[in-house]
Amino acid sequence: MSGEPESHSCTGELKSHAYIVSNRRMAFVGCVAFFTLIYHIGLNFSSPMLSTVFHSITRDENFLEISPTLVQSTNSKEIFSTFYSRYDDQKIYLARNNLSDAELLVLASHAAKRKTCRDGGRIAFLFITRGDIPLEPLWQRYFEGYIELYSIYVHAAPGFKFPKNSLFSGKEIPSKDVRKLSMDLVDALRTLTAYALLDDTACNSWFVLACESTVPIRSFSLSYAYLTNSKISFVDSFHPAREWLLDGWKMEPELSRQQLRKGELWMCFQRKHAGMIVGEQYFYKKFMIDCKGACFPDEEYVQTMLSIYDPQGIANRSVMFVNWTSPHSSSPYTYNSGIITPMLIQNFQNLTLDLMGMHQDIGGGAGVQSSTCLYNGRSQSPCFLFARKFAAEAVDVLMQMPSSVLGY
Ligand SMILES: *[C@@H]1O[C@H](CO)[C@@H](O)[C@H](O)[C@H]1NC(C)=O
Ligand SMILES: *[C@@H]1O[C@H](CO)[C@@H](O)[C@H](O)[C@H]1NC(C)=O
Ligand SMILES: *[C@@H]1O[C@H](CO)[C@@H](O)[C@H](O)[C@H]1NC(C)=O
Ligand SMILES: *[C@@H]1O[C@H](CO)[C@@H](O)[C@H](O)[C@H]1NC(C)=O
Repeated sequence: MSGEPESHSCTGELKSHAYIVSNRRMAFVGCVAFFTLIYHIGLNFSSPMLSTVFHSITRDENFLEISPTLVQSTNSKEIFSTFYSRYDDQKIYLARNNLSDAELLVLASHAAKRKTCRDGGRIAFLFITRGDIPLEPLWQRYFEGYIELYSIYVHAAPGFKFPKNSLFSGKEIPSKDVRKLSMDLVDALRTLTAYALLDDTACNSWFVLACESTVPIRSFSLSYAYLTNSKISFVDSFHPAREWLLDGWKMEPELSRQQLRKGELWMCFQRKHAGMIVGEQYFYKKFMIDCKGACFPDEEYVQTMLSIYDPQGIANRSVMFVNWTSPHSSSPYTYNSGIITPMLIQNFQNLTLDLMGMHQDIGGGAGVQSSTCLYNGRSQSPCFLFARKFAAEAVDVLMQMPSSVLGY
């Protein structure tokens, strides 16, 4: 197997070179704007003393805090009391006040701490897509009857709007171009999470990241119970076995080789971790500046960051099935209509070993690693609630699948 970087993202596989170049410039401009703003709104961005980093990264100084200047400049009284009576109002407010990315993250970070949800709360589905979601009919079927228990936010290509009759219509958040294997995907995740945290109409307690090739393989009620009863978040996070991932970029001194983690971007997390994802700034800055070459921000930043701040709080596995069986190109195996059968879906549902995902990917010829799926400490639990990647043309075959198989 070659040392080719794999893309673990659903988006970005079709990007042209010119697109990448223009985005790199945008990312630079965005980065400068971000740090300038942080400077102006008076947040403390100074890094902890290097000598103490490995042993005592204290949470507070590494997370965004609301500053008096920001409170004044955005009229927080309005924001935090009545303004978010409706999701649309919130979007209008954010647009009208021209809140920068940095301000949005600070407010969301604050909201994460402020709010606790009664009765389990809602599950926020965060979609990162380029445009259309061809498997929408399945999602419609999946959500049917659970209007009170889910909310949807979509980060699509800038300017993309879903048709009026779509499940996803009006759920688009202000977005930026997304380049694969870059901080753009992390930024898209952070922005989506921020909107979901700030949405006062929905008390979102769990956050599920999905893409256009994701399919639910359980009923909504089973997934809801699985997630809201879990003590920990489902974030794929493992120590990469391949040396070139550890040597390929300048990790130290902020990060040690032992601390680096890798894993699928497609994760499910609790509100506590949502707050960390929007508010963490120390490792974010490190990855933003130094994660180049053999470093893949979308597969390493959140996975590493959460494993440092809350190692016991994440399951180190995903609940989204993916087939990285070698040999594979830069993308995991895509299931098309020709091979989708009820038995295939049942196979995914029956898995209690995490066999086919990233653990296989890290083997790189060195053999397959698998581990039992723990659920609240119980081994050999069902691993998966969702699966990817499914081809757009598979929608009809999937829609013909009886609910006795899909669970919905
Ligand atoms: C919003 O901010 C951007 C970038 O900071 C600026 O170019 C634009 O003019 C602002 N728009 C409004 C309506 O203030
Ligand atoms: C996840 O991995 C970390 C090490 O990074 C470990 O401390 C933690 O116990 C693991 N979590 C579970 C649930 O096994
Ligand atoms: C996983 O993908 C490989 C192709 O890379 C395919 O041969 C195999 O059947 C797939 N496994 C499952 C369980 O679908
Ligand atoms: C999945 O598990 C169920 C219940 O144990 C069993 O009836 C079924 O045959 C299994 N299907 C597959 C494809 O493994």
